[in-house]
Amino acid sequence: MSRALISVLRTSSHAVRSHSPLCSSVPALSHALVPAVQVRWSSHSPLGTPPANARKPITINTLQSLYRKNEPITMITAHDFPSAHVADHAGMDMILVGDSLAMVALGMEDTSEVLLEEMLLHCRSVARAKTAAFTVGDLPMGSYEIAPEQALESAIRVVKEGRVKAVKLEGGKEMAPTIAKITSAGIPVVGHIGLTPQRQNALGGFRVQGKNTASALELLEDAFAVQEAGAFAIVVEAVPAEIATMVTKKLSVPTIGIGAGNGTSGQVLVQVDMSGNFPPGRFLPKFVKKYGDVWSESLRAITEYKTEVKSRVYPTPEHTYPMSMTKEEFADFEKMIRWLVDSMNMALRSRGAEPMGWRRILTVLEIHTPFSGTLIPALSNASDASRGRLPKITDAAMVSGVSTVSSSSGIFSSG
Ligand code: KIV
Repeated sequence: MSRALISVLRTSSHAVRSHSPLCSSVPALSHALVPAVQVRWSSHSPLGTPPANARKPITINTLQSLYRKNEPITMITAHDFPSAHVADHAGMDMILVGDSLAMVALGMEDTSEVLLEEMLLHCRSVARAKTAAFTVGDLPMGSYEIAPEQALESAIRVVKEGRVKAVKLEGGKEMAPTIAKITSAGIPVVGHIGLTPQRQNALGGFRVQGKNTASALELLEDAFAVQEAGAFAIVVEAVPAEIATMVTKKLSVPTIGIGAGNGTSGQVLVQVDMSGNFPPGRFLPKFVKKYGDVWSESLRAITEYKTEVKSRVYPTPEHTYPMSMTKEEFADFEKMIRWLVDSMNMALRSRGAEPMGWRRILTVLEIHTPFSGTLIPALSNASDASRGRLPKITDAAMVSGVSTVSSSSGIFSSG
């Protein structure tokens, strides 16, 4: 074996993360050769860079100050790290990990299906984006209606395990004791009145609320009760603009409208809806404005990727890691692998056994024999290799893959 090859083997210190079974054996081979510090690349790029114009974290005081200045409060949903990241970069004041998660991210029929555990997972994902935006996590159906104590327990989990700053829960006056209980523990609460999707079955579907006098009065009562119970903001969903504006004017906490016109203290939309990240033909509520076409862009990009992979246009050298071997060293390396395979297969054939492919040979050597600790250092020893003093795989080990290695000369001798 040439000195060039040995130096190649000694300096191949970069392992690239991959899921292929082949790569799971190769690093072990190079480990045996190269104890040097390794540089690893991930197969995905990390997110998490703060925006260039990093903002001060938004607190409940910031939100109150926006409200006092009559500056609209911006809120959007995010259900995972990247969607939170982009929302924060865009400068949103608030990020809601809404239970719309159930339908737009988990493919469920409605929001009643999503579990607290699932909400927690997604809250944590959003929280890891370390946003400046004020984060709120929804309490899902079943996690707060039984008793205020149950609600407090769930709210504590959402803040403690989900790492968000506040919780949101649906319901009007009947939820006042619950909101009071949670806020008394120091957890900020956002109320949610009008159309409350978790109760769609009782409401007869996703129906606009507060349309007539009785219903508008009920909405007002709900808004007051939720405010008095301590909610610091109230989402008002699917309510005629005039009614939502009137409710907003009567309250001393901000309202965040969704399908409630332009007179509320702020607006919220579901990110997947407003960014157009869904296939054509999907139903969109009337109040959603489609600000983007993420679906088309993703579809175009993925289709192009598919075409380029099929036609071998991708990857080009610019997407490929350089070797640290020279061409000659690489040729030597190939020779060594060929020699290894030929030697193994010659011995196998001489015993009437089936020859093996090189992947199988490497796997057998690595898994069934202590070769990663014996053979490879020996191979990398130039003088041993040139004098043919390489370790022997015994016949039994060769055929059955069972490990027994002799250090005396044997089938790997170069003669
Ligand atoms: O779950 C959600 O996304 C929401 C918003 C629609 C307000 O509650």
